[in-house]
Amino acid sequence: MDKRSFLKNAGLLSFGSMLGLDGLAKLVNNLSALPGSVLAKDEDFWGKIRGDYLLKPDYINLENGYYCFLPQVTLENFIRHVREVNYQGSYYMRTVQFDNKKAIAARLAALAGCSADELIITRNTTESLDMIIGGLDWKPGDEAVMAEQDYGAMLEMFKQVSRRYGVVNKIVSVPNLPESDEEIVNLYSSAITEKTRLLMVCHMINITGQILPVRKICDMAHNRGVQVMVDGAHAFAHFRFSIPELNCDYYGSSLHKWLSVPLGAGILYVKKENIGNIWPLIAEGERKPDDISRLNHIGTHPVHTDLAIADAIDFYNTIGAERKEARLRFLQHYWTDKVRNMPHIILNTPADPSRTCAIANVGIKDIKPGELADVLFKKYNIYTVPIDGAGVQGCRITPNVYTTTADLDVLVKALSELG
Ligand SMILES: Cc1ncc(COP(=O)(O)O)c(C=O)c1O
Repeated sequence: MDKRSFLKNAGLLSFGSMLGLDGLAKLVNNLSALPGSVLAKDEDFWGKIRGDYLLKPDYINLENGYYCFLPQVTLENFIRHVREVNYQGSYYMRTVQFDNKKAIAARLAALAGCSADELIITRNTTESLDMIIGGLDWKPGDEAVMAEQDYGAMLEMFKQVSRRYGVVNKIVSVPNLPESDEEIVNLYSSAITEKTRLLMVCHMINITGQILPVRKICDMAHNRGVQVMVDGAHAFAHFRFSIPELNCDYYGSSLHKWLSVPLGAGILYVKKENIGNIWPLIAEGERKPDDISRLNHIGTHPVHTDLAIADAIDFYNTIGAERKEARLRFLQHYWTDKVRNMPHIILNTPADPSRTCAIANVGIKDIKPGELADVLFKKYNIYTVPIDGAGVQGCRITPNVYTTTADLDVLVKALSELG
């Protein structure tokens, strides 16, 4: 390979097309008068944002649901933080490490709309939510409510507390295409008894992309004396909401998903009055019962990841939450609207825009999800993930801000031909 091809493959020649944060800010400022819904359709604008990403040319990545990898500007800053922490060594760890983490957690709290003393930085949603499930003072016979469409790691943690403390788990099944919010609220309500203590609900179901009516579920559960823990792995920095508006007791999310933070960062929100009720996963020194730092002892960890969260917030804020949400919803509808009525297509995601954003799940009659993912990859160079369980058979399709309508045209062509 000659030097130019090597550099091109390594992405080192692509910096010319990068906007960087200042360029991005200028671009956005020039168009700031346009509503997000209009800008959502502007391929030229989003094409420039695409230039900030180093994309593997081998396939079209429509599997951003696992990990929304970093734009170059955040990646470069992250690498700078790795170098800086390595340069300062123990001095960094013994001086500003904790102050920096606290200041960044406060920025995340501002994004989440909650108070800074109700939110901590964790390593991921799994740590956040399993700390709550495992940290409540369960008594034998207590009940918990959850759905079969919830994420496996949390369902496993509930199984563990069931074996350990005699908790009874009640599992509902959420329809892929609900008629109304009330249908879902009633479903959860029907599983509550006088012994129920905790209800877990996904803000967005990861296998279908369905957004659930969390506020209504919380209000219903609170009326029955039940606390609610929300799995927001896919919601934070994807579509707009504030945690207090949801009226939940606990909320967890992963920042390496929609905020595009380096792998291994998440948040846990605990409503102030509940902080004292949770046993930490890892014990912390003496603290006041309502001090959330009780729940935040994880030992020595990659602190440069914490620092890069601030860069990811800058990138996200510069694009603008409304613009990002509008683009992601536009991209999803761009392809689902074209295929939804094809007779061989099964869409496992509601059509109602208020129940979805970027993610949707599509199946094809008589084709197993694994086979569909295989043919999409081998014949059409589209990378997705097959889902086969919990009432969902299809491939999850997850674009990101760098995805073009041309990428999605390839998907639509594939789905039309595969019938
Ligand atoms: C709904 C949901 N909850 C929790 C998780 C776990 O996230 P993490 O592995 O970052 O802890 C995921 C991961 O995809 C998810 O989709």
